[in-house]
Amino acid sequence: MKYNHEEKDRQRILVLDFGAQYAHLICRRIRELGVYSELVPHNISPNEITRKNALGLVLSGSPKSVTEPTAPFPNAKIYEMGIPILGICYGLQVMVHQMGGEVLRVDRKEYGKALLRVTSKNKLFQGLKRRTPFVCWMSHGDAAKILPDNFKSIAATENSPFAAISNGQLYAVQFHPEVTHTQNGMKILSNFVFEICKAPKNWSPEKVIEQTITDIRSMVGNDDIVICALSGGVDSATTAWILERAVGDRLYCVFVDHGLLRKGDREKIELGFRKKLGSRLVILDAKKRFLARLRGVADPEEKRRIVGQEFIRSFESVARKIGGGKTLWLAQGTLYPDVVESAAGASKIESKIKSHHNVGGLPSKMRFKLIEPLRALYKDEVRRIAIELGLPKDIVEAHPFPGPGLAVRIIGEVTLEKLEICREASAIVEEELVASGYYGKVWQAFAVVGDDLATGVRGDERAVGHIVIVRVVQSFDAMTADWVYLPHEILERISQRITNELQRVTWVSYAISSKPPATIEPQ
Ligand code: XMP
Repeated sequence: MKYNHEEKDRQRILVLDFGAQYAHLICRRIRELGVYSELVPHNISPNEITRKNALGLVLSGSPKSVTEPTAPFPNAKIYEMGIPILGICYGLQVMVHQMGGEVLRVDRKEYGKALLRVTSKNKLFQGLKRRTPFVCWMSHGDAAKILPDNFKSIAATENSPFAAISNGQLYAVQFHPEVTHTQNGMKILSNFVFEICKAPKNWSPEKVIEQTITDIRSMVGNDDIVICALSGGVDSATTAWILERAVGDRLYCVFVDHGLLRKGDREKIELGFRKKLGSRLVILDAKKRFLARLRGVADPEEKRRIVGQEFIRSFESVARKIGGGKTLWLAQGTLYPDVVESAAGASKIESKIKSHHNVGGLPSKMRFKLIEPLRALYKDEVRRIAIELGLPKDIVEAHPFPGPGLAVRIIGEVTLEKLEICREASAIVEEELVASGYYGKVWQAFAVVGDDLATGVRGDERAVGHIVIVRVVQSFDAMTADWVYLPHEILERISQRITNELQRVTWVSYAISSKPPATIEPQ
């Protein structure tokens, strides 16, 4: 049984996903305005829209063209529901096409900045001066040529006479108000959400916490036990703290020390949770078993599979002891992007890049009910909730850490020597980033080690040692990532410290590949 954190009565703005890379961003921007918003498949039915209590719909952009036979269309009945709709880019074109207007390929495609002039008084641009054009961000090769009946242009750019259109209930813009390059973009979205849809402010850390606790209490029976697997990261820690508020001493947290942790991870968990949970914090020392199973294994997917399998075995052994015949709930810190990627993305074709064991690998033999209190949230929202709940700062601000731990940062077989180098070098990278104020500004920062050796010199002697690769990336949601232009002085200090403090390292390099084509972790 799956607990779906999606209470039926919450009023919301639905973003229909036509496959644009910015669809998620629209959803996030609306939440930033304090209104609950959800990404749904583009072909959602009118019944489902009503069931979800939608106050407004946004039609996202798309890489497709309405002139192609494979173009995705929404159910045409959505236009007759009396709900305000805002089409964005492809959303404008699909609205025009379905309402009887005409969309054509244009000779002068618009990419990048354009100056937008508001040409007619209307609610979407309320509060914006008509005489003062502002920058908007365009990215389109198709455009409306003939507007449907009763629609009129409400804003224009040099190349787009129909940069924004409306019939009084339906609105559409050819540009992207959700990107920061568009001036007044948030004002336009805010006008749609508050002035046109009349949405209430129903999304803030306090409201989310309150609502989540109510939901958990209505799901979990008075005698049931909830078990939360702690990883030391902010998602599982927040899941645990919110559950503690909801079910009190019926929550148990299990932390499996698989020997592939960062320096200080285990101590951080002790410090952050022991006082709160007492003996309900179970720390299982399974280092020997994990490392024995990983001996001789070099293949990255095989390493992931072994860690996943051993993790489940360890977890089940603890859960069996705690359960004592009661109904057991397994709490997971699944976030909204994972949910959207695995289910709702009707217009997405996913390919398996890496198997993330904490998404797919649930205990198989034990009968758990699954509870995922964060499944409606983005990472930055989780961090805000964590702060509101009073979680320790070092847990809230900790960089994401993969479930299989250092096993995916060690290229080839996990040996004790490489494990030590990877752990110590990563700690140096983190320490130097903290000292220089970069730690909180980047997404992840760590060290990688493989089997390649390089010659060095120590004193008067030639020495052969490992090559450590330092990786520091910036990202929004881990789907894409850029390598970070760290100042040379910081890189130099990291390099000096690693080669001085770790005798078995002779070379340090810096990874300058972004994602794509690389991934964040090396394996
Ligand atoms: P990649 O390396 O695929 O990573 O660009 C994207 C984000 O996911 C984390 N990651 C994992 N997390 N189990 C996890 O729980 C895994 O197997 C795993 N592999 C990668 C990675 O740290 C980054 O934040």
